[in-house]
Amino acid sequence: MSSVAGTTNRVVSGMRPTGSMHLGHLHGALKNWIRLQYEFDCFFFVADWHALTTHYEDPAGIQESTHEMVIDWLAAGINPASATIFVQSDVIEHAELHLLLSMITPLGWLERVPTYKDQQEKLKEKDLATYGFLGYPLLQSADVLIYHASYVPVGEDQVAHLEMTREVARRFNHLYGREEDFDKKALRATRLLGHNVRKDYLDARRRYQEQGDVAALVSGQTLVMNCPRLTVADRDRLLGYLEGVGRTILVEPEPMLTPTPRVPGLDGQKMSKSYGNTIGLREEPESIDKKLRTMQTDPARVRRTDPGDPDKCPVWDYHKIYSDETTCQWVQEGCRSAGIGCLECKRPVIDAVLAELEPIRERARVHEQDDDAVRTILNEGRERARDIARETMDDVREAMGLE
Ligand code: TRP
Ligand code: SF4
Repeated sequence: MSSVAGTTNRVVSGMRPTGSMHLGHLHGALKNWIRLQYEFDCFFFVADWHALTTHYEDPAGIQESTHEMVIDWLAAGINPASATIFVQSDVIEHAELHLLLSMITPLGWLERVPTYKDQQEKLKEKDLATYGFLGYPLLQSADVLIYHASYVPVGEDQVAHLEMTREVARRFNHLYGREEDFDKKALRATRLLGHNVRKDYLDARRRYQEQGDVAALVSGQTLVMNCPRLTVADRDRLLGYLEGVGRTILVEPEPMLTPTPRVPGLDGQKMSKSYGNTIGLREEPESIDKKLRTMQTDPARVRRTDPGDPDKCPVWDYHKIYSDETTCQWVQEGCRSAGIGCLECKRPVIDAVLAELEPIRERARVHEQDDDAVRTILNEGRERARDIARETMDDVREAMGLE
């Protein structure tokens, strides 16, 4: 049973600055963020320290990439009036929480994270036998826990990191959430709820603890989260008291897995800068047009008269994203019967990609010419993020007796 997930609606997610972004990022993550920003209280950050764990030899490149990535976010439609966007290293509290969490995190938990060995294998040319690289998932835990995130949109490969984050939060609460006089303090805090809400809260607590009524737990959590008079510490006490555990100082987040379409690269492999098969978000139309015209198709279609199979063709993946029912049918029939040529088949895709990227490229150009505006957005994001991060750290330090 997770603790208070579901009672706040905060979403936190980060992206490593890898230089300018491509179509794979747009459909794989950004579009999802853009949708989420209007439904949740979103915190999106550039994970520049994370990039440093693998690219510590080129820190200057990370700075540059950070700026470019923010421009791409804004151009794609991340709205700083709806979402809080910031740079991880601007909020040093992430580092403090990472340090404190490192004290209670068993080495085995980090060594067992599947990406640890995988990435070391994959990036053999780099020396990743470093302390920072091993601790990477814990830094990610701090990123999320510091904002009491309820949900973290991530890909499949990151679910293990989230699972570890939940274990770390649970361990922290277990170790430091058991203050002396907990019950007395919790009861005192219930008075801040006001007479009627207090009654409902205690009633929900009883129904949950005596009858395991999960709906009562959720309604009790909602009462607590909606009470503006509580300090963070009292809120944590009331949430813990409700569940019959100690104080919930760090909230266990849940992964948010959203199915995303496959966007293959020009050669049919995964789209990635390292394969040189990308379509950049800000690329010139002529270049995109040329790349798509010469893009890989079903290898069985050597001649125009050879029938093909869309399922073996990366262009079909693009049709699935961009084309309507009628066009998809036209592709299926035309390809299998050799009724259409590949270039003909690609035309609607090329037009759709160009139409999608045109406004993005234009907005990016505006931001490219206004460094100050981008910086202002990041400064505002940093302040909003730090306000919450500072509160959490006050609470964490107090719980650990570090005041
Ligand atoms: N590790 C993530 C990645 O490589 C990036 C990341 C860092 C992140 N901190 C995060 C994602 C916190 C979600 C939440 O993609
Ligand atoms: Fe691919 Fe279209 Fe050519 Fe078929 S006709 S192989 S789907 S590009």
